[in-house]
Amino acid sequence: MKRAVLRTKLCDMLGIEYPIISAGMGPTLIGEPNGAPVELVVAVSEAGGLGVLGGAGFSIDELQQAIREIKAQTGKPFGVDLLLPKNLMTFEGFNEPIPLMTLIEQLPQPYLDWFHKVKAEMNLPDIDLMVKPNTTVMLPNEAIRICIEERVPLFCAGLGNPGFMVKEAHAQGMKVLGISGNTKNAQRMAESGVDLLVAQGYEAGGHTGRIGTMALLPQVIDSVAPIPVLAAGGIGDGRGLAAALAMGCVGVWVGTRFLATVEGGAMDLCKKRILESTDEDTRVSKLYTGKTSRANYTRFHDLWDASGLEALPFPIQVLLCSVMLGSFVKGNKPDYISGFAGQISGLIHTVISAHQVVEEMVTEAVEILTEKLPQTVTVKK
Ligand SMILES: Cc1cc2nc3c(=O)[nH]c(=O)nc-3n(C[C@H](O)[C@H](O)[C@H](O)COP(=O)(O)O)c2cc1C
Repeated sequence: MKRAVLRTKLCDMLGIEYPIISAGMGPTLIGEPNGAPVELVVAVSEAGGLGVLGGAGFSIDELQQAIREIKAQTGKPFGVDLLLPKNLMTFEGFNEPIPLMTLIEQLPQPYLDWFHKVKAEMNLPDIDLMVKPNTTVMLPNEAIRICIEERVPLFCAGLGNPGFMVKEAHAQGMKVLGISGNTKNAQRMAESGVDLLVAQGYEAGGHTGRIGTMALLPQVIDSVAPIPVLAAGGIGDGRGLAAALAMGCVGVWVGTRFLATVEGGAMDLCKKRILESTDEDTRVSKLYTGKTSRANYTRFHDLWDASGLEALPFPIQVLLCSVMLGSFVKGNKPDYISGFAGQISGLIHTVISAHQVVEEMVTEAVEILTEKLPQTVTVKK
C-alpha cells in the first residue's frame, strides 16, 4: 500500500517522514524504568517519526551506551532529553552508589517521622534500591558533553533553558529543542537561540504548567515566531495531530500515548492503570518531585494529602517519594503505585506497538485534513 504523505517544515528540519516526536520520558522516580527507553526511540524513528530517549534516570556511562545502542539499531534521526535543573541534588561525600534508605535519613525530621509511621502502619519492607552518584540529573554538564560528542541529532531540554549550549550543538550539526508551559519561558528560550519549542499544556503527563494546551499553543506560536512550535499535552490520536497542525504547529510531542505501547518503558502496572483510567483519573501534585507533576491517581495521593506535609523542594522530594514507591512495589501494595501520565489516559484502551501509534495517527490526521473537514465544514471566502 502507498504510504500516506503528511509533511511539515519539521520533517525538513529533522530529516524525518512524519511530524510526530515521542516525548523524552525519564523514570517517574528513582528505581523505576525510563518511560522512553532505547526500544521506544528506535521503534518511533523507524516508523517515520522521531524517538527521543528519556535520559534523566541514566548514569553518564549508561547514557553514552544507550545513545550508541540507538545508533546501532537505526540509521534514522533521534533525540535525547535531559533535565537541566537549577538546583542539583548534592550530598557530602556522595561518590559511590548509596542505599536510598540511608540517604533519606538526611531528610528533615517531620518527613522522616511520617515515612517511618507509614512504613510501620502498612508493614512495608526495607528496600535495597541504590542511588547512583553520577546521574545525568546530578551532572547535567557531563551529560550534555556526551550528547555533543555523540552528535545526537536533536537535543531536548525537559527542564531549564538549553540556550547556553546551542552554539556548541550547532557546530556539531545538532538541533536544540526547549520545552515550556507558558509564553514567558518560551520567549526566553527563543531569544537564547533554540531551534524548536514544545508548548506543553496542563493536560500533559509529568511536570506540567498551569495553561491548557488549546489556550497555550496560539499564544506561544505568536510570541516566538518564526521559531517553529510543537504541541504537547493531551495528544493521543490523529485528531490531536490534525488540530495541532491547524493551530499552526509544525508537529506534536507525544508522551502518554507512547508510554502505553509495547516498547514504552512504564511498569506493566502503570500501563494497566493508563488503560483503566478515565479522563478524570489523573492528579497534579507536588508529591512526586516537589514540582507540580501529573500522574495517574492512586491511594498514595490520599496518603500524602492526609500527612499535612508540604512537598520538599525539587529534587529532594524525589528521594522521599522514591523510597515510598519502592516500598509499595516491594510490599505489594498495587493500590498505591502509579506513575506520570496525562489526561489523555482516558482515550487509551490498548497497548499497541509504537509503530501502530504512528501509523494510526498519520492515517487519521490525513483523513481529517483531506476528507472529513471538507465534508463537514462549509467554507467560502
Ligand atoms: C512517564 C513520563 C515521564 C516524563 N519524563 C519527562 C522527562 O524526563 N523529561 C521531559 O522533558 N518530559 C518528561 N515528561 C513529559 C513529556 O515530555 C511530555 O511533555 C508529556 O508527556 C506530553 O503530554 P502527554 O503525556 O499528554 O502526551 C514525562 C511524561 C511522562 C508521562
